[in-house]
Amino acid sequence: MTLRAVVKGIGHYLPERIVPNSEFEQTLDTSDEWIKSRSGIERRHFAAEGQTTSEMATLAAVAALDMAGMQGSDIDAIVLATSTADMTFPSAATMVQHAIGNTTGYAFDVQAVCAGFVYALSTANALITSGQAKTVMVIGAETFSKIMDWTDRSTCVLFGDGAGALILAAEDGSGSSDDRGILSTDLNSDGRYKHLLYVDGGVATLNTGMLRMEGKEVFRHAVEKLAATADKALHKIGLTADDVDWVVPHQANIRIIQATAKKLGVGMDRVVVTVQDHGNTSAASIPLALSVGVANGQIKQGDLVVTEAIGGGLAWGSVVLRW
Ligand code: UT7
Repeated sequence: MTLRAVVKGIGHYLPERIVPNSEFEQTLDTSDEWIKSRSGIERRHFAAEGQTTSEMATLAAVAALDMAGMQGSDIDAIVLATSTADMTFPSAATMVQHAIGNTTGYAFDVQAVCAGFVYALSTANALITSGQAKTVMVIGAETFSKIMDWTDRSTCVLFGDGAGALILAAEDGSGSSDDRGILSTDLNSDGRYKHLLYVDGGVATLNTGMLRMEGKEVFRHAVEKLAATADKALHKIGLTADDVDWVVPHQANIRIIQATAKKLGVGMDRVVVTVQDHGNTSAASIPLALSVGVANGQIKQGDLVVTEAIGGGLAWGSVVLRW
């Protein structure tokens, strides 16, 4: 018998304010046409003034609890992926823990930027399969609008805010790739590439800072590394791209999503795409896409799902799970 971390519920939250590309035309030398054709993004949601990452995460968490038919007190651990926690400390995860009325579990943040949700899923899987938790809430939540340089057209048109949450619970499986739950994970990072994507502030500089990115270089790494990590995670369990029902990629750029799918050998009819509506929401992008994919009937119980993401660090990875 093999312990598996099986999905019990999923939910998401997007802030009310929707900003179309055309809004940037008023303040920047840019156009809807450039943004759409270079990134696939058409609109994004921005948090309201004062609305925080932990508040959005809590709303996603409540939606996931609803779907699972659970209460906050049923959760043993909360792993929250974010690079935009409300405060330097405590963690946003403990704020969510309090907000959902949980006093018996433990909660912590994971920081791997856009790869954060994949890292958090992998961590949750390790907690469950090692017996340290039976039920884990995995959240990706970001307010990247708070770290944008609104004068930098090469970055500020690309990002958005939002949150997604997934509940995993321990179940016995057979050990085969037919089991439901997380089947394989692959994590990577390479700190030599710090300069390609970073925030130029933090504790060392006494300010929050703003996001800086060498987009073209990140793009180049992304396609190559995303296809490789997804292949590796599938290979570990004797599966290939032909076995995959849905690829749910990090939603940064439609051209990266398409090129990675092609390299993997998966048609775009098997890829969940939300980048047009959400922009790049960093660690929130995969749980948002999973939640939308479930809500619109694409992802069904028993489907083999591959998630893959890359971001600042560089950090990248993938998780294969059977829904
Ligand atoms: O989530 C973390 C991972 N991040 C990513 O995966 C992002 C990866 N990178 C990308 O998605 C793309 O590289 C971008 C969308 C950021 C840029 O697309 P690109 O095709 O690589 O364009 P580029 O950076 O080579 O820029 C082409 C031109 C430049 O002008 P010149 O030098 O050719 O005259 C830019 O100055 O487009 C210009 N440009 C813009 N023009 C209008 C850059 N931003 C804009 C803009 N509007 N917003």
